Amino acid sequence: MIEIENLSKVFIQNGEQIVALDKVNLSISQGEFVSVIGPSGSGKSTFLLTIGGLIEPTSGEVRINGTSLYKVDNKERARIRLHTLGFMFQTFNLIPYLAAIENVEVPMSLAGISKGEQKRKAREFLDRVGLSHRIKHRPAQLSVGERQRVALARTLANDPSIILADEPTGNLDPDLSREVTDYFKGFAENGITVIMVTHDHQKAAESNHRLQIINGVVSATL
Ligand SMILES: Nc1ncnc2c1ncn2[C@@H]1O[C@H](COP(=O)(O)OP(=O)(O)O)[C@@H](O)[C@H]1O
Ligand SMILES: [Mg+2]
Repeated sequence: MIEIENLSKVFIQNGEQIVALDKVNLSISQGEFVSVIGPSGSGKSTFLLTIGGLIEPTSGEVRINGTSLYKVDNKERARIRLHTLGFMFQTFNLIPYLAAIENVEVPMSLAGISKGEQKRKAREFLDRVGLSHRIKHRPAQLSVGERQRVALARTLANDPSIILADEPTGNLDPDLSREVTDYFKGFAENGITVIMVTHDHQKAAESNHRLQIINGVVSATL
């Protein structure tokens, strides 16, 4: 459960105020597949990163399963990020010198999971995205679609209850983009909350909670 109350973020740039989030109120139940659309610069990434504990809001609250993200100390916030949240970005952000399996192990390693367990779970997640035959390949040795699946597997490491995805299909052809959306739908059916920022209105239409952001103002959309 995500509860957002009166959430605002104002950036100051060259003495000018930019209202990236304007008093957002919203609650999202567990297992919902939420899409977020809106023009460039409207506050979509800020919205996602604020929910993800990565941008401190100017005012208001984000509560994740009852815990107020910005009222706890940095250490506790990092712990929540690590154990509850999974991130996926447009460029995937894979580590180039690590094999697929090692990329998936990274978040588990940060969470202090034993090496043996990391390997076992990383294999399992790569298997879930149909990549068990490519675990030793480095990102440059993989196709875009395979890299995307490594990123999906890494997002699943630590069993997140919430996945935050910032335009994950932005660089992909229609087939791969379809694949990511289908995976996210499946994750949501298994009880994971998925919040996906997208430019693609068709993809957004497949979610069960559609949001639009314009100039930092969030509203529900059809
Ligand atoms: N770190 C920052 N410092 C100053 N302004 C920022 C910063 N991050 C975002 N902004 C501004 O906030 C607004 C919303 O940005 P963003 O959330 O990235 O929009 P979107 O993801 O919808 O394109 C934009 O006007 C952007 O320039
Ligand atoms: Mg953005």
